[in-house]
Amino acid sequence: MSSPTRSLLVIVLAAGEGTRMASSLPKVLHAIAGRSMIAHVLEAAKGADAAAVAVVIGPDHDRVAAEATRVLPGADVFVQADRRGTAHAVLAARAALARGYDDVVVMYGDTPLVSAETIATLRAPLAAGAAVAVLGFRAADPAGYGRLVTRDGALLAIREDKDASPEEKRIDFCNAGLMAFDGHAALALLESIGDANAKKEFYLTDAVELARASGREAMACEVAAEDVAGVNTRAQLAEAETVIQNRLRARAMAGGATLVAPETVFFSADTRLGRDVIVEPNVVFGPGVQVGDEVVIHSFSHLEGASLSRGVAIGPYTRLRPGAALGEGVRIGNFVEIKASELGAGVKVNHLSYVGDSSVGARTNIGAGSITCNYDGYGKHRTIIGTNAFIGTNTLMVAPVSIGDGAYIGTGSVITENVPADALAVARARQVNKPGWASRLRERFTARKAQKG
Ligand code: UD1
Ligand code: MG
Repeated sequence: MSSPTRSLLVIVLAAGEGTRMASSLPKVLHAIAGRSMIAHVLEAAKGADAAAVAVVIGPDHDRVAAEATRVLPGADVFVQADRRGTAHAVLAARAALARGYDDVVVMYGDTPLVSAETIATLRAPLAAGAAVAVLGFRAADPAGYGRLVTRDGALLAIREDKDASPEEKRIDFCNAGLMAFDGHAALALLESIGDANAKKEFYLTDAVELARASGREAMACEVAAEDVAGVNTRAQLAEAETVIQNRLRARAMAGGATLVAPETVFFSADTRLGRDVIVEPNVVFGPGVQVGDEVVIHSFSHLEGASLSRGVAIGPYTRLRPGAALGEGVRIGNFVEIKASELGAGVKVNHLSYVGDSSVGARTNIGAGSITCNYDGYGKHRTIIGTNAFIGTNTLMVAPVSIGDGAYIGTGSVITENVPADALAVARARQVNKPGWASRLRERFTARKAQKG
């Protein structure tokens, strides 16, 4: 393990644009587990306690810059004006390198499965005196990767596929791409790299032979291929999603959640679950969900930007949208949608309802099929409902409107005016019964039909 006292600069390369995504979105902005690829990489850098993070982007990649600084406001963004190789890209961050760090780690923006632990593995040889360290993996098909040329455990060179001899091409120990450098030697080492190779590019990988030529050590650390997989296609994006989902499911279960059918539950990287949470099959957690202890999430529910306090039960078929905040013991049932609303402890919304832009006081019951009419085609308006209220079945609450504590709304009402506390509000036509009317109608119609023959 590297000593925590060594300062770390992480440089994330994201200037090269894979064109195989068939997308108008920059590759590193494609999401897995509800988080952009570059955000995954930056989170790993954060987890590795980087003192500074530099991101190298291509020209016209303002959206990548915006995403990087959203995730890490302190990140330095550098632009590589023309794409002349990985060493050239790292040198775009020269100003950061020149500040002087003990360790420099280079990561790729399209390699989102790397964890903080993998970064620690990569740094370990630096603490032991190496000038360069790389991560290697065993590839079933090594074509296209740089090959790690080793002898007795020492790393002699990295040979790019296009420059490799037939003998070197048979090596299955491949460069994952992540490299670490002694920060005090890095700048001079990178500046000595040339472009005399098959691609006429400045290869970062040439640092290995150059370091050795100057009498320094280079080391390769083997990691699982899965941890360092790169994403170039939509199919690889889906494979990375599978890997991350499996990690998130394992993390949820280790933290004390029961997943009845883990392979059918989809998390976001930032999903937070308490203890003794039960998640039934086929549930999707979008970004920004926090779930307290002893919550039950029944099948087919979809949650995003929501917080659920202790003992809440939702679903089956509940949709929680951003800003749904459910107090202790709240019950939300089937075909109910909640958006931007705070529900106090013990509130029940059990069937077929929409509650949006609202606040609902503790222990209030909202009957089946009730709707807060929050949108008038131009703006959104709030509905305020007090504590212990009873909202009858099929009530429409036309916002802005407020309903006082303990109020009782008659079934089928259209509420357009505020209701005082403890009042009964009935806003529907009064029922009229006409005795015998139906049988007289039947007699008339039967007679008419007989006449016509
Ligand atoms: C690189 C490695 C290779 C390794 C492979 C792993 C070099 C020379 N080769 O090859 O040994 O096996 O990754 O996937 O490093 N980039 C820039 N600017 C550039 C060039 C690249 O920012 O001018 C960025 C790309 O966005 C990408 C990364 O660097 O994130 C790697 O570039 P890429 O062209 O994919 O390198 P490979 O040929 O795959
Ligand atoms: Mg590549």
